[in-house]
Amino acid sequence: MNLMSNASDSLEGRDNKIIKLSLTETLGKVRIGVTDNGIGIKEEDKPNILEAFFTTKPVGKGTGLGLSITSKLVKENDGRLFFESVYGKGTCFYIELLISKSMPTGEFIESA
Ligand SMILES: Nc1ncnc2c1ncn2[C@@H]1O[C@H](COP(=O)(O)OP(=O)(O)O)[C@@H](O)[C@H]1O
Ligand SMILES: [Mg+2]
Repeated sequence: MNLMSNASDSLEGRDNKIIKLSLTETLGKVRIGVTDNGIGIKEEDKPNILEAFFTTKPVGKGTGLGLSITSKLVKENDGRLFFESVYGKGTCFYIELLISKSMPTGEFIESA
């Protein structure tokens, strides 16, 4: 949700707004991607982007808590969160999680 709303905020005032979601699976991992063609992240902001209370948004709009909470949740589940961004061009955020061996598949609910 936070990655989506960040992507949406980054598109404010821009033409040809695009947000792309992806889900890929490789080597026992799934990767969720949220890509936008928004404003992007400045080089000088990149080291701070996951810090609590870091925001470039106006007061009342951003709290700077989204990515710090998101990355903590992902880490607690042995995953990782990372991003690539070019200022003026767009941003890709990724969440990578291990696929649980006990993940149930095809468990249909029996009708009474
Ligand atoms: N998709 C994105 N495009 C551009 N900047 C982003 C994007 N996602 C995050 N950011 C930058 O990271 C900062 C921190 O994001 P977040 O922790 O979610 O807090 P908030 O959304 O409240 O500002 C944002 O203020 C913004 O500067
Ligand atoms: Mg946010």
